[in-house]
Amino acid sequence: MEGCILSAPIHATEYDPNRQKHFPIKMIRMIAACAHNGVMGAGGTLPWKIAEDWKYFLETTHGDALLMGRRSYEDFTEYAQSRKVVVLSRNPSKKFPHAQQAHNLKEGLAMAAELSSNIWVCGGREIYQEAMVLAEELYLTLIDAEYEGDVYFPKWKKFFTREISRKELTSNQPKLTFLILGK
Ligand SMILES: NC(=O)c1ccc[n+]([C@@H]2O[C@H](COP(=O)([O-])OP(=O)(O)OC[C@H]3O[C@@H](n4cnc5c(N)ncnc54)[C@H](OP(=O)(O)O)[C@@H]3O)[C@@H](O)[C@H]2O)c1
Repeated sequence: MEGCILSAPIHATEYDPNRQKHFPIKMIRMIAACAHNGVMGAGGTLPWKIAEDWKYFLETTHGDALLMGRRSYEDFTEYAQSRKVVVLSRNPSKKFPHAQQAHNLKEGLAMAAELSSNIWVCGGREIYQEAMVLAEELYLTLIDAEYEGDVYFPKWKKFFTREISRKELTSNQPKLTFLILGK
């Protein structure tokens, strides 16, 4: 797995996330959405149905390699067929018909790197936590509401201290803030 350092600093105003797709380099990013109270999952699925955020996730990660935990994959199965997915599970007898299986994060990242130059770490909690030190960017959607749930997004602020861009969707209820954060 190669790391990536862009040669010149990029400022929020000139940052074009799509442009990255043409870079022949490997970059590890994380993508997540979390509520005001930190909740990101409930009962094995998303606690909300927010079309704008789901569309953002699908479009942003389109064509790239996705790395996710077994529970997240179970919720994502219907989309996996048209995506390059690596699932983390410690259970060697598990079978994932539309994804490759890895047994730890390091192995998963190596498999994902074979699939695409751009790797997206897509959760859940333990995998986000472990990838905080490795990922170069965090795409985080802040949902301006509180939800009940059983999975919380880990603390990220000490890892991602640089705001690359911020877009607010105030017409949406609840309000959405799409952040791109760097180190
Ligand atoms: N809001 C968001 O952005 C977002 C993003 C992703 C997920 N979610 C939500 O979060 C929940 C799922 O997250 P979760 O944290 O409960 O579960 P998860 O991380 O998706 O899956 C947990 C499972 O992944 C495997 N796993 C985790 N870390 C591993 C490692 N280091 N090495 C090998 N295998 C590993 C284990 O599978 P085995 O038990 O098979 O060994 C573990 O039981 C769902 O509600 C989902 O909808 C929300």
